[in-house]
Amino acid sequence: MRLLRLFLFALQLIPVRYARADEGMWLPVLLSVLNEADMKAQGFKLSAADIYNVNQACIKDAVVIFGGGCTGEIISADGLLLTNHHCGFSTIQSHSSVSNDLTTLGYWAANRAEELVNPGLTVKFLVKMEDVTSLIVPADTVGKTPEEIQAMIAANSKALETQRMEGTHYLADVESFFYGNQYFLMIYETYQDIRLVGAPPSSIGKFGGETDNWVWPRHNADFSLFRVYAAPDGKPAPYSADNVPIKAKYHLPISIKGVKEGDFTMVLGFPGSTQEYLSSSAVDWTLHVLDPVRVELRDARLAVMEREMKKSDEVRIQYSAKYATVSNAYKKWKGEILGLTRDKAVDRKLAYEAVFTSKMNENPALQAQYEDILPRLELLYEELTPLTLSQQLFIEGGYSIELLQFAYRLSQYFSKSPAEMKQDQSKTLAYVSGFFKNYNATLDQHLAAAIFEKYIQLLPEENLPPVIDEISETYPDNFEGYAANLFEGSQLTNPDLVKEWIEQGNVEALRKDPAYQLMAALFSHYFMATADGYNEKNADIQGLQQRYMTAQQQVFTERKFYPDANFTMRLTYGKVEGFEPADGVHYRYYTTLDGLAAKHQAEPENEDFFYPGKLDTLIATKNYGRYAQGSDLRTCFIASNHTTGGNSGSPVMNAEGQLIGLNFDRNWEGTMSDINYDRDLCRNISVDIRYVLFVIDKYGGAGYLIDEMTLVE
Ligand code: ARG
Ligand code: GLU
Repeated sequence: MRLLRLFLFALQLIPVRYARADEGMWLPVLLSVLNEADMKAQGFKLSAADIYNVNQACIKDAVVIFGGGCTGEIISADGLLLTNHHCGFSTIQSHSSVSNDLTTLGYWAANRAEELVNPGLTVKFLVKMEDVTSLIVPADTVGKTPEEIQAMIAANSKALETQRMEGTHYLADVESFFYGNQYFLMIYETYQDIRLVGAPPSSIGKFGGETDNWVWPRHNADFSLFRVYAAPDGKPAPYSADNVPIKAKYHLPISIKGVKEGDFTMVLGFPGSTQEYLSSSAVDWTLHVLDPVRVELRDARLAVMEREMKKSDEVRIQYSAKYATVSNAYKKWKGEILGLTRDKAVDRKLAYEAVFTSKMNENPALQAQYEDILPRLELLYEELTPLTLSQQLFIEGGYSIELLQFAYRLSQYFSKSPAEMKQDQSKTLAYVSGFFKNYNATLDQHLAAAIFEKYIQLLPEENLPPVIDEISETYPDNFEGYAANLFEGSQLTNPDLVKEWIEQGNVEALRKDPAYQLMAALFSHYFMATADGYNEKNADIQGLQQRYMTAQQQVFTERKFYPDANFTMRLTYGKVEGFEPADGVHYRYYTTLDGLAAKHQAEPENEDFFYPGKLDTLIATKNYGRYAQGSDLRTCFIASNHTTGGNSGSPVMNAEGQLIGLNFDRNWEGTMSDINYDRDLCRNISVDIRYVLFVIDKYGGAGYLIDEMTLVE
């Protein structure tokens, strides 16, 4: 079968796509070598050194890692920082109470004294990056096993990081690129006093909610504002009343001239993870095994959450952030399945492999070295398939039952030495309080029943954890009955009692608890029957994938390769442009406030489409000031920049490096781009910077913030 398919593809029935100019997440340090000429040909007006330069202030000095997984940018000399609303959301929520809910009301600090302190929130500036491959990869590996080589690499990385950090306040981080074929050292400067300056109400920042998430057209002002503070000498320091706003090395000028179709655009940020160099067997496995099972399990979880959230306002508030998180990846995987299918991604990979194979075979040395890779990957993914189901049923299934997570966390605590327990006691008590703040046992109980059902539906009898088998025999066709019994019998739903156990070191009480026992049974079965085998296969796959990466680079010597995203700074560039999602349908590249008003639901059927009266008035009177375009105001736009998760909050810039938008999402047809970027279908979605400024100025009444920015009219 494989041979026949390879033969058909060798006849070029499906076009092979190599990285086109617009595809790629490029390393800032290599732009001048790899991309500058092409960027200029596409309209870029600056030079690579304006983006990345260690000798003088440049654009990279204004782009930061915000918190644990987002990007942000500095937009004033006094350290004003812009990122997404969904990136600042948990911070905004942390300042909220029922009587003063900043997520609902929004927040605008009237002066610096009102900027709100956020313990734990950090911002990291990239000082520089450098290729350290020769220092990390051992020169002599003869006779070493892959595990031994990995251990040497880890030790070398650690030693280099330690050496580079010594005597500095910097963070040094060695990262692997191209599956371990190249290593770069990143030096970061971390600021720890980051204050909340402003945020629109969720109804504006998150307008469209889960309904519109991952979909174009969009109308949300997904932004929030922070400020970076430092000690009076300018050095990073934890919060202190004496701290002052940083004197920014560089801040982005903001263009309010607007964007038009075909304009050059680029995004600098911290994309998290992509896999563009997989084999056809890996894409096939993702499309037909991994994504479907995780979508099915999250579907079941979301249905229970939604039903229970509708019944009670309290539960709705408790679970809104959890729901958004579960739903975000769920929806992305769903879009990925659709995209990979319609774009024939597996066939495209097969066509690519046919060309790869024939080119490889022209060179006997390459053939001898690499011809085993693709057949072996195909076999390994076949063997991985049954293990994937079991693995996902644990990770997205059993382990998603919050009471079992709770039991696991407690068991971790009780497995410590008495001295360690003493040290961790107050932290653990705080964890228990935090857990119950956003916990509803009834919801969790129904969720558990739904998950047990899925075990039976999805796993062949011989792979079922014995405990699930027993349950289904004792409670035939009645997992709800079992779950009710479990939750009634468990004392883990009682916070005061659990705290008592912790204070008394009463591990016996925990061990007797039925929820603990279920957790222990599921965990031990998972580790014995699934995890070891899965990890072993996966390690083999990673080893082959590393060799496949090298092989692709050696076979296609004329092609420019960019490394997969790994949460290091990257530049991607493309054009402002619409697309055709289906035959006969054209999606325009921008949206407007008139369009937002058309989606408005005042008596909300769906709360996602409600927004406050003040915005209504501004729209009715067309009070858009200098942010208008014609008689309307543009809200969002799309472009062919290759982005992924982590790029949230990234600056979208024009050919002159001026800020024109704030990246926050991708389109439904293009969520497959983490595996299969198709320039015809993949778009990044940004808020038009003029909509951001309008909301700050006209809606928030915080025009003084605009005054500290550098606007280009
Ligand atoms: N899809 C965007 C990103 O991946 C936005 C997520 C937050 N918004 C939401 N409605 N859940 O992360
Ligand atoms: N919303 C994503 C994030 O939080 C960015 C969109 C994407 O995945 O492209 O990083």
